[in-house]
Amino acid sequence: MSRPLRFGVIGLGLMGREFASAAARWCHLEDLGVHPVITAACDTNPGALEWFRRHVPTLRLVTPDYRELLAHPEVDAVYCAVPHHLHEQLYCDIIRSGKHLLGEKPFGIDKEANARIGEAIAAHPEVLVRCSSEFPFFPGAQAVFGAVRSGRLGRIIELEAGFLHSSDLDPDKPLNWKRMARFNGLYGCLGDLGLHVLHLPLRLGWRFENVHALLSNLVPERPDGRGGRAPCDTPDNATLACDAYADGPEGRVTFPALLHTKRIAPGETNTWFIRVHGMRGSAEFSTKYPKTFRFMTYKGGAQVWGHQDLGFESVYKTITGSIFEFGFTDAVLQMWAAFCDEVAHGRERMRGGFWCATPEEAAESHRLFTAALASQRARTP
Ligand SMILES: NC(=O)c1ccc[n+]([C@@H]2O[C@H](COP(=O)([O-])OP(=O)(O)OC[C@H]3O[C@@H](n4cnc5c(N)ncnc54)[C@H](O)[C@@H]3O)[C@@H](O)[C@H]2O)c1
Repeated sequence: MSRPLRFGVIGLGLMGREFASAAARWCHLEDLGVHPVITAACDTNPGALEWFRRHVPTLRLVTPDYRELLAHPEVDAVYCAVPHHLHEQLYCDIIRSGKHLLGEKPFGIDKEANARIGEAIAAHPEVLVRCSSEFPFFPGAQAVFGAVRSGRLGRIIELEAGFLHSSDLDPDKPLNWKRMARFNGLYGCLGDLGLHVLHLPLRLGWRFENVHALLSNLVPERPDGRGGRAPCDTPDNATLACDAYADGPEGRVTFPALLHTKRIAPGETNTWFIRVHGMRGSAEFSTKYPKTFRFMTYKGGAQVWGHQDLGFESVYKTITGSIFEFGFTDAVLQMWAAFCDEVAHGRERMRGGFWCATPEEAAESHRLFTAALASQRARTP
């Protein structure tokens, strides 16, 4: 028997619609004992509400006022995907209303907003709160995770990970809220892309310190979409060089980490990658080659990379044959399965072994991004 988990969605833009689509194809998953039913939708934009009205037949409430959604008795959980300046207010209100929350990253526009969301979570331990991050659900990402966790890479030499976009290479692309510090936050590309890069390393138990940040704002002004021009006052690209460390039974191990978040990485379209080198082996995955897991085992002698075509070896079993390829929307569906699984069964009895990014992981990302801004300020007079 599958039990319904009734969702309200706040913010029906790019990501809100992805959830509507994932919920609509829940039959893709093998029975999880729980399935989402979207009962309420909220957005201040009438066009976004109209899309949901047309495509989501289970709606009982459609409203521009999120407080009305939170008061609705047929909402057990909320997915909130709104601009970053609204995270603190909306996430805190959602948590206080007693609804479970999957909130979008970066989980607050800055470290202070994130801390206040953390206080609301601490005051409501009955509510499950998780942060959206889907790329670790790619089979190749899971393969890297498994390789590191198994210890077969040996002592870690270094980590390099990143998330790369390129459409902002066009200086005539009109700006939106994501390019404006007022709505997106001073973090810029770090807030937009950074948690995606950090989720797997943080889940491996790695933490970061001594960050040296290289931030660039390459296109400081763009068309505003209304015939004028407007400033883009957030960094487009960031490379963070830091010390990563892990505390294990043999004490603390430290190694270099290079983390990239870029909106202007020529030629790259939503490329998420992670590469870990160890003294006995290396492992790598990039969404650029979405089914290819690369690895090397070093036992002396030749150092030869192997390439393995992974099939549809997902955390949650699906109807898709194991020989077929996995993609972005599959990762979104898997993330949703993990959230619903954890709400329904609790961490200990989850059917899949990989849970969504936690508020503690999001808080670690804020610590690093804030240190990155301080590093940049210290270098620029
Ligand atoms: N997980 C991912 O891969 C991923 C990808 C893109 C964006 N995001 C995150 O998702 C969030 C939203 O980004 P998006 O790309 O969907 O943005 P978007 O601009 O496409 O959608 C945001 C929606 O929020 C609505 N909104 C604004 N104020 C509101 C309010 N007071 N009440 C209700 N609705 C309101 C807007 O009208 C808009 O429809 C951000 O936190 C962003 O960082 C995550």
